[in-house]
Amino acid sequence: MLGSPNAMTQDLPRRDQALLWHPATHFGDLEKLPPIAVSRAQGSYLFDTDGRPILDGISSWWTSVHGHCHPDIVAAVQDQVANLDHVMFAGFTHAPAVELAEAIVDKAPPGYGKVFYTDCGSAAIEVALKLSFQYRLQTGEPQKTRFASLKNSYHGETMGALAVCGSEFYREPFSPLLMDVLELPTPFFDRHEHADLSSNLGADDPQADRAIALLREHADTLTALVIEPLIQCAGRMTMTGAGFYGRLVAEAQALGIHVIADEIAVGFGRTGKLLASDWPPVAPDLMCLSKGLSGGVLPLACVLIRRGFEDVFSGAPARSFMHSHTFTGNPIACAAGLASLKLFDRTQLLTRLPARVEAMATRRRQVASALGGLVRHHRQLGMIAAFEVAAPPGKVPDGRLGLHLRAAALERGVLLRPLHDTIYWMPPLTMSDDELDRLAEVTVACVRAVLG
Ligand SMILES: Cc1ncc(COP(=O)(O)O)c(C=O)c1O
Repeated sequence: MLGSPNAMTQDLPRRDQALLWHPATHFGDLEKLPPIAVSRAQGSYLFDTDGRPILDGISSWWTSVHGHCHPDIVAAVQDQVANLDHVMFAGFTHAPAVELAEAIVDKAPPGYGKVFYTDCGSAAIEVALKLSFQYRLQTGEPQKTRFASLKNSYHGETMGALAVCGSEFYREPFSPLLMDVLELPTPFFDRHEHADLSSNLGADDPQADRAIALLREHADTLTALVIEPLIQCAGRMTMTGAGFYGRLVAEAQALGIHVIADEIAVGFGRTGKLLASDWPPVAPDLMCLSKGLSGGVLPLACVLIRRGFEDVFSGAPARSFMHSHTFTGNPIACAAGLASLKLFDRTQLLTRLPARVEAMATRRRQVASALGGLVRHHRQLGMIAAFEVAAPPGKVPDGRLGLHLRAAALERGVLLRPLHDTIYWMPPLTMSDDELDRLAEVTVACVRAVLG
């Protein structure tokens, strides 16, 4: 029986619940909203085991940039797995890892000299934190031990990454275990509709002045500033602005504080350029990439490291960076990444993006006008749009607005995963006009169904 098609798909939700522990999932919610068994994906759609399509409005946790199962990436993965599945990356190398590193450095802002691969975003953050810390030990600055990060930020959930998260929601239960971090204020631009990324948005916000004053005050003890460029995605899609980001990076670097840019969510076209750091533009000392890096197909992440940074790690063996992950530089994941980057060129995706951004903006405005007072602060940067749902007091007695909206969207064949009261769209960059229409229609229908 094991492995027969029937055995594989039969009664999956029940068998799942008997055994599996899902990420970021409240056990009680599983009764209301059991996991949906999915067997296939194509373009902007997932398909459940009965063949029912589900429009993926959030690119399956912000990964799938070209749509699911793009034939170029599938072919690259198939070709790679048939030749070299895996080899430890200590003492070995291979073409996918080298070519992908060359391609990323070529497309990134100038000045990067090394690439360190990991297999998830949190691990990339850990690597960046450790690199910055060890750098100080080896440059005679042992007093520079502290990190700064922004209020409401999210950087992952391993202990180091969690410590630099600026949200009590994720951090609170583990706070006794976490290192002390300097928290900087964040401009909450989500109170406005704005879409003009090319402007100097946020540069003259009072919060930028406060953040800079804190950096100056603590510069002697700070090793690095960790920051999500332009949008705090898990922080309810808070859009902080290219001007704010550019100013903070420039100031931190002038003060001798490393900048760790967390482009894990916003990289690879999400903001309308390949990287969000291209907007100001700036070149952070360390840049963490993941999610869209492999086209969203396989677990892969990396840290881009400013040229010359590595000099501090040469000399005696004890000065080496002693950090490893078993699947670092996995050839199949790197082959997927290379195919994804080539796709950006072959399909001229970035050139075509402004039209997609405008198509989304049109639907966003339509939704806001159809829903009137039920949503507020609708906003968009590139291919990320968000709305706050304004639930009248007492309307959602259990307080689980996001869960109810998610369930309502799934009933209508759309994957949305609101962050509390924030509905957001982060679809594949290739989503068509018709698909965006459907996303908009279902968004309106869900809000009306839950609050109507
Ligand atoms: C900005 C940001 N940083 C870090 C992470 C953590 O990445 P991972 O979930 O791959 O560990 C995420 C995940 O959503 C993220 O959005």
